[in-house]
Amino acid sequence: MNPTISEHRKWTVEPFTDSDLMSATALWNSCCGPGKLVYQPLSPEMFRTLLVDPIPGVSKINRVVRDGQRLIGYAGGTYRNQGEQGYVTIVLVDESYRRQGVGATLLRRLESDLRHLAGDRLNRFEIMFFNPVALNWIVPGTLGHDHPNSPGVDVACDGYLFLKNQGYRDIVYQNSYYQSLDHYQYPAEIQTRLQRLAGQGIHITIFDPAVHDGMEALLDDLGSDDWRQIVMANIAPDGPRHPVIIVEHDNKVCGFTGPISVQPSGRGYFAGIGIHSGYRGRGAGKVLFSALCLNLKAIGASFMTLFTGETNPARNIYEAAGFKIVRTWADMKKEVKSNEP
Ligand SMILES: CC(C)(COP(=O)(O)OP(=O)(O)OC[C@H]1O[C@@H](n2cnc3c(N)ncnc32)[C@H](O)[C@@H]1OP(=O)(O)O)[C@@H](O)C(=O)NCCC(=O)NCCS
Repeated sequence: MNPTISEHRKWTVEPFTDSDLMSATALWNSCCGPGKLVYQPLSPEMFRTLLVDPIPGVSKINRVVRDGQRLIGYAGGTYRNQGEQGYVTIVLVDESYRRQGVGATLLRRLESDLRHLAGDRLNRFEIMFFNPVALNWIVPGTLGHDHPNSPGVDVACDGYLFLKNQGYRDIVYQNSYYQSLDHYQYPAEIQTRLQRLAGQGIHITIFDPAVHDGMEALLDDLGSDDWRQIVMANIAPDGPRHPVIIVEHDNKVCGFTGPISVQPSGRGYFAGIGIHSGYRGRGAGKVLFSALCLNLKAIGASFMTLFTGETNPARNIYEAAGFKIVRTWADMKKEVKSNEP
């Protein structure tokens, strides 16, 4: 073995304790920022809430590596009770200790902890958006324009090749899209489509329960219980009545997006978007999505972020509205080998 490397191997992997909170947060923050990880910097309280505090039905694992008193590595993971997969949330190693095997040792330990928690049930380790711990990240080059979930491993970060070299394989890629709304207006192509639809008697407007009908029929057609629940609760007489934007034909609802609202960071939020199966293929989805952006801008949103699979046709809608890809993420997995400790 290379003697200079073995000299460095005086560090140990240990459970995270409360007294690690400050130094683990400092490590997190030193790994994030321009040219580094895009995750939001954290205060110790945020670190604790996100990575340490319990979530019902979920076990969180936290490990640290110490060189003497100094914390030089941190790894976090989760396991949802009865699940077949364990999630790797993050592995961080102090810059001056990289490429000495610290990260690989931490990851193996995290995997072994997950195996012990889940027993025979566990068949894979994953890094993806189903992880119950969602990492908020900041679009590079913006003033705090954020997205509340990172759907995998940022393919531009050191961790991507690290994980590949630790036996993780890409499942699919997700692209994160961003659009500033400061000067948002309909792209020329969308204007043309709007006029074409108007010629067929199809318009985009804000849903008014006194005028429009067919919302329930649309939601039935779309088949999402989540959307049904959110939209119907919102438009109920005693509901919050956040705007819902619709595609209407003779006052019948044949597409919806919303309810819309503005999050504290200025991010425009919408619960969903869908076009009735009988009205697809006419460009109504693209027009509706652009109308969503304009309406979010009108209620004070300053930007939008969203992500979708590399091969998901929905990307055409976002791209037609002018959205740009700002990050690509890999969903990754590694099969559990039954003969490992
Ligand atoms: C990714 C990270 C955790 C790796 O930690 P580390 O202690 O340097 O990793 P190790 O020394 O254990 O690396 C083990 C093997 O992984 C691979 N590897 C590690 N870093 C790599 C890199 N930047 N590029 C390519 N392969 C890499 C190599 O095969 C390496 O073995 P080798 O040094 O013999 O070639 C560390 O670079 C880091 O903290 N980066 C910033 C945070 C980050 O990106 N975290 C991942 C998000 S989950």
